[in-house]
Amino acid sequence: MNYPYQIQTFEAYKAQYQKSIENPQDFWRQIAEHFTWQRKWDTVLEWNFKEPKVEWFKGALVNITENCLDRHLDTKANEAAIIWEPNDPKEAHRIITYKELHFRVQQFANVLLNNGVKKGDRVCIYMGMVPELAIATLACARIGAIHSVIFGGFSAQAIADRIQDADARFVVTCDGACRGAKEIALKSVIDEALQSENNVKHVFVLERTKTPVKMQNNRDLWWADEIKKVEQMGNPVVPPVAMGAEDILFILYTSGSTGKPKGVVHTTAGYMVWANYTFVNVFQYQPGQIHFCTADIGWITGHSYIIYGPLSAGATTVMFEGIPTWPDAGRFWDIIHKYKVDIFYTAPTAIRSLMSFGLEPMDSKDLSSLKVLGTVGEPINEEAWHWYDEHIGNKNCPIVDTWWQTETGGAMISNLAGVTPSKPSYATLPLPGIQPCLIDENGKEIHGNGVSGNLCIKYPWPGIIRSTYNDHERCRQTYFSTYEHLYFTGDGCLRDADGMYRITGRVDDVLNVSGHRIGTAEVENAINMHPSVIESAVVGYPHEIKGQGIFAYIILDQEFDNQSSLIQEILKTVSTVIGPIAKPDQLLFVPGLPKTRSGKIMRRILRKIAEGDTNNLGDTSTLLDPSLVDILIEKKKLH
Ligand code: WT7
Repeated sequence: MNYPYQIQTFEAYKAQYQKSIENPQDFWRQIAEHFTWQRKWDTVLEWNFKEPKVEWFKGALVNITENCLDRHLDTKANEAAIIWEPNDPKEAHRIITYKELHFRVQQFANVLLNNGVKKGDRVCIYMGMVPELAIATLACARIGAIHSVIFGGFSAQAIADRIQDADARFVVTCDGACRGAKEIALKSVIDEALQSENNVKHVFVLERTKTPVKMQNNRDLWWADEIKKVEQMGNPVVPPVAMGAEDILFILYTSGSTGKPKGVVHTTAGYMVWANYTFVNVFQYQPGQIHFCTADIGWITGHSYIIYGPLSAGATTVMFEGIPTWPDAGRFWDIIHKYKVDIFYTAPTAIRSLMSFGLEPMDSKDLSSLKVLGTVGEPINEEAWHWYDEHIGNKNCPIVDTWWQTETGGAMISNLAGVTPSKPSYATLPLPGIQPCLIDENGKEIHGNGVSGNLCIKYPWPGIIRSTYNDHERCRQTYFSTYEHLYFTGDGCLRDADGMYRITGRVDDVLNVSGHRIGTAEVENAINMHPSVIESAVVGYPHEIKGQGIFAYIILDQEFDNQSSLIQEILKTVSTVIGPIAKPDQLLFVPGLPKTRSGKIMRRILRKIAEGDTNNLGDTSTLLDPSLVDILIEKKKLH
């Protein structure tokens, strides 16, 4: 497979970009011609951002798995689709060819069909990074079931909320997951989650860790037993079901500025085209190359750049079960060496964490196969960028800094590896089809270069969020109502003298902790569930490794002698309600919170105090009790 739409020079980028803006429909129609359709579209795009309504390739029928699997069988049947590296390097790795993946996806699709899964049913997938996670995801897409993958680090309660919100009818899980030296008992977390109200008919359980599990009669089914039944039926063929272009492919929950995570909805045709187009262009993938994205499939990065982007392009994608620091901090470099990885895509937080181990973990690791490096998830600081460039890329690999979001489906602002210019800590230029603009505090567009403002997008692209599941109004409110006729990203952004974009971070109450998106309101809700907590306020502060750390100001209902055990309890509460990723790094017990007369917490002040930047607190005269500020500063000093 080659990619006629792969941009190969900076000149070509400029020409393609121009074309994509002048005639977007014609531009995307031509790209869409390179996919396999069961029926072609009637219209390329119908849209308005008011409702919002965005329909790409309306009237078309298509199945993304036909594009990820079937269409490669003539030429790539025996090439590796997935290389799976286990948590424990002593365990055997697995190579799954396109032919085998095609077979296994149908097998599991049969399991789903045998157990009553229908097109449109929501299937919640809560597994570790095993090949069966990709297989289950693709099997859903094969039969038109909507997958909702939940990251293995979320707690029972967080899962229960997501199962309820999506009204999931089925769950796919593992007995346990291996992460470094730890074993996480996934099935028991699901059991706990399913004690809340739900309409789940079956839980499919893959054996991975042999962690003891309780199987509930009639509800719980072993993956292997169900596969055996399919084998006894003679492994019937499961044709790729005809999906309407705008039928939902998946839901993925993400945090916003309210307490309740929202189910971002992506649909079939547009997402497919966007994941593929961005994969091929940003990473400049060449046939035969090995692509290693270190994300978890529980996040959008894994959806788009482990599964759908690479597989739709007939690429070889590496899936790693473990963590970068186990058994030692050289694990990523081992994997690159072992499989001669060409493209390596990770998060700045991982780079910073690995930097702290020095250069020894790279000793005797051959990284010379690398051609392209990438980062995603948060702004990359220059120091980390240069370390990555020098020590991993040997100053020989372009680094793509890809800015995008769960809601955008794929990379939006990024250099194209080796094709368009890069600049440390800049995401650089928009991809074709993307029309970024900066908006000032009065809602007016800021033109020209050397300016900054709130980042918005003017025109739909194929991978844009279509809705928030079951609550379209929330989608409108969150993304399309702040500024008329614009998609609002929630990010602040600078455009330099050369027109290059640099993302400066969230401007809403969303934190980015180790590349994970966490809403301050969610953490506050969790903290407030502790019986001794009256009120809390959570802000982010700069953290050397995580990018942002979580700082919680907490008002208790009484004085406590043993504060350290109380801290442990509160942290445990947060772990139970959301998951360990949302645990505050610092807790400060305070007598009050700085509020305006209208009762609004002044987070700006809390952020400054958390950062230790107290000379520059700005105007505090509108506070109900300005003297509180000095008390908080004092408490923080003693902390
Ligand atoms: C937020 C989206 C996209 C997959 C991973 C995160 C921040 C993402 C960059 C980047 C600066 C970035 C933004 C964005 N972000 N990539 N290259 N440079 N910031 O997806 O969980 O939906 O988070 O991550 O703040 O809004 P997500």
